Amino acid sequence: MRVLVTGGAGFIGSSLVHALIAGGDAVAVVDDLSTGTVANLHPAAAFRSMDILDPALTEMMADFAPEAVVHLAAQTDVQRSIADPERDRAVNVDGTVAVARAAAAAGARVMLSASSAAVYGDPEALPISETASKRPINPYGASKLAAESALARTLEGTGVDFACMRFSNVYGPRQDWRGEGGVVAILGARFAAGERPVIYGDGTQTRDFIYVGDVVAFILDALDAQVPLAGGSPDGAAYNVSTGTATSVEQVASYLRAISGVLVGIDHEPAREGDIRHSVLDPTKAAAALEWRAAQPIESGLAITWRWLSANLR
Ligand SMILES: NC(=O)c1ccc[n+]([C@@H]2O[C@H](COP(=O)([O-])OP(=O)(O)OC[C@H]3O[C@@H](n4cnc5c(N)ncnc54)[C@H](O)[C@@H]3O)[C@@H](O)[C@H]2O)c1
Repeated sequence: MRVLVTGGAGFIGSSLVHALIAGGDAVAVVDDLSTGTVANLHPAAAFRSMDILDPALTEMMADFAPEAVVHLAAQTDVQRSIADPERDRAVNVDGTVAVARAAAAAGARVMLSASSAAVYGDPEALPISETASKRPINPYGASKLAAESALARTLEGTGVDFACMRFSNVYGPRQDWRGEGGVVAILGARFAAGERPVIYGDGTQTRDFIYVGDVVAFILDALDAQVPLAGGSPDGAAYNVSTGTATSVEQVASYLRAISGVLVGIDHEPAREGDIRHSVLDPTKAAAALEWRAAQPIESGLAITWRWLSANLR
């Protein structure tokens, strides 16, 4: 299959590109390297350094003629979304529309677009299903939610099937530990440096941590799906891509300490304003539609991530 991946030099995108190429697919990557790196790029993937908002995207997409487009490029930093909501909206909403229009014009069969647990905001009940109320609490969550409806408006009636993948907290090799959101990478990097990690709040806050290999497996299954992915209802095209299991931040830190053997203490600082206490996404819909399930136990996923962090930080 010919697959175009936006954000293919980033954390999730590079893992996907490696898996696609290992499976014999032809891959093109569009990435402006704003957070992604050249080191993440696969040598067998065609690479174009380009902002998804660049009008030249249409021609580039038409030249490559992908059967499938996986759209992962985004402004992903919550703090930056608060500081510059216009740019966040431009990249995440207008950018998604631009990619969708280019995909349709190039004759793609399907487009999978990354959304986020951030669309739900503070949940009313756990685990959160796709139809739960959506009240994002920051511009990033709002732009991801707006991108979902913009994608549907752009692709409905074009013959291009589509899905919005609401990822929970993804972790694994190649996640940037200098970012603000990747708890596992940030804690792991502190252990690798022999420094005391900092937990904001008491550490009992929980997240649905999913290993990047499981996210890649979902995308590969969705690309191979023999049934339409986009349904008619408002959340018909949305899929939680998650484990359905809650793990506390404190538990992650204690696993990492045991795995690393770096027996430093853990510092606590006050909880950050706007942090959600508990977030677990119900993956039942994805499981029923694609017979996909997150399979990587968190202990072994963290061990793989630790090996990568300790090899790449030193
Ligand atoms: N990592 C997570 O836990 C998580 C959770 C929920 C949703 N997501 C979503 O998954 C997707 C991938 O996230 P990631 O964690 O791999 O982040 P990442 O920052 O590692 O990857 C994003 C990639 O997009 C590129 N990019 C950003 N803006 C661009 C633009 N205007 N034009 C072209 N390229 C651009 C970056 O250079 C980077 O390579 C994003 O859409 C993100 O919102 C991630």
